[in-house]
Amino acid sequence: MITSTLKILSESDKEACEVVKVSEEELAAGKKRLFIESYGCQMNFSDSEIVAAVMRNADFATTSSEDMADVVFLNTCSIRDNAEQKVRNRLKHLNTLKKKRPGMIVGVLGCMAERLKTKLLEEEKIVDIVAGPDSYRDLPRLVEEAETGQKAVNVFLSREETYADISPIRLNSNGITAYISIMRGCDNMCSFCVVPYTRGRERSRDPFSVVREAKQLFDEGYREVTLLGQNVDSYKYSPPTPDGGEGQMVNFAQLLEMVATISPDLRVRFSTSHPKDITDDVLWTMKKYENICKYIHLPAQSGNSRVLKIMNRTYDRDWYIQKIDRIREILGVDCGISTDMITGFCSETEEEHQDTLTLMEYVKYDYAYMFAYSERPGTPAAKKLKDDIAEDVKKRRLQEVIAVQLQHSGERNQLAVGKVHKVLVEGPSKRSDDFLCGRNDQNKVVVFPKENFKKGDYVQVLVTECSSATLIGHVVETV
Ligand code: SAH
Ligand code: SF4
Ligand code: F3S
Repeated sequence: MITSTLKILSESDKEACEVVKVSEEELAAGKKRLFIESYGCQMNFSDSEIVAAVMRNADFATTSSEDMADVVFLNTCSIRDNAEQKVRNRLKHLNTLKKKRPGMIVGVLGCMAERLKTKLLEEEKIVDIVAGPDSYRDLPRLVEEAETGQKAVNVFLSREETYADISPIRLNSNGITAYISIMRGCDNMCSFCVVPYTRGRERSRDPFSVVREAKQLFDEGYREVTLLGQNVDSYKYSPPTPDGGEGQMVNFAQLLEMVATISPDLRVRFSTSHPKDITDDVLWTMKKYENICKYIHLPAQSGNSRVLKIMNRTYDRDWYIQKIDRIREILGVDCGISTDMITGFCSETEEEHQDTLTLMEYVKYDYAYMFAYSERPGTPAAKKLKDDIAEDVKKRRLQEVIAVQLQHSGERNQLAVGKVHKVLVEGPSKRSDDFLCGRNDQNKVVVFPKENFKKGDYVQVLVTECSSATLIGHVVETV
């Protein structure tokens, strides 16, 4: 399944297409049923797969129907205000359901749970369980507690938890592509961002458990893994030695290499890279292995150095441009690059906004996720800076950024026309069962006639036309 062919996403679009319902149906008699719905970033979706595994061990079966569920979990996001509003609306709807079935347990998991803690119980009477991102092993106990009629809360943030030993249950999977969390939390303090408060301190997962998981996926027929973290380039793991010391440290470039060498037929992607941390080592490792996809998500957030400074991104416009140049030098102009941009951050002037547009002109991103600034309570920006750009100005600037990006996505896709691309087939295309779709190295969605190909195949597709979101062509050769 391609989750989205829509690559130009506005703030609301992004969340809309990220809401995926758990579809695994297990109607084993006698088991209690769990319905999980995930919001927000890929890490949250990945966490829901850990939650499903924890709950299965406690003898719960997952269901895709909330009407059948004994327990409903919403795995929530706090990144922008509208992400939280969406969850509050969902809770209203669940309220009607709960009136009909008073025994149903409702749990709020994830970032909103961590941000609001017990306040959530006061504000949303329907909620029985509040569970932060590091408390998922405790969920069966929390459910038991809630079943006795008490409210159950665990918002303890850990410095060690990585869920390394838990084999996630792949939810809504196409059987070909999967996400693997390699680290949790974030130690950066971007002033606009709530993540360090909702996810806690950064910690990296044992590389051998990452490789084991990737190997197992490959043996099960998966052909692509995406290594996930808020800032993958700061991955570092030193195994404990028997005498209580630290063993040889593994960094992100080394982890990438370990995963890439599992098989040349296993594609490796990763997200998200922070411009301050991505190293030449990572770029050279990408170049060395054909199966590490040539695509980097390198969020800039703004094109203006003063704004970047008050955002506390710790790089400036020139530094960012140098990183882009380095990527192009080592990996070539074809390497896919995408970004996140925020418009209307505190005190951003029209000229500073123009700098964002000119940075975009310089880079010509393949895709971008674009957002109007949304002040988050408790963040450094909320404490120290004034959210002083009027909503309509933020939105107008956002529209300008989106318009430029649409054009660039079109131009970048146009460059792909007339060339042959190696595509990993992910399944039927959204529009027609006579067509298949997959992605090329640069993460672009490619659609082509089905013929006798099937998901999991690698094919060479000659791209003959494109829209700003999709490449269209036909297979010229199998791989
Ligand atoms: N770790 C990633 C980002 C995770 S959050 C990184 O460092 O790039 C995803 C994106 O949401 C961010 O890149 C940013 O563009 C956006 N975002 C975060 N906080 C925001 C806020 N308060 N208002 C608007 N957009 C925000
Ligand atoms: Fe947020 Fe910055 Fe951490 Fe990304 S790197 S999660 S934007 S604090
Ligand atoms: Fe949202 Fe939490 Fe991810 S705030 S973006 S779900 S880390």
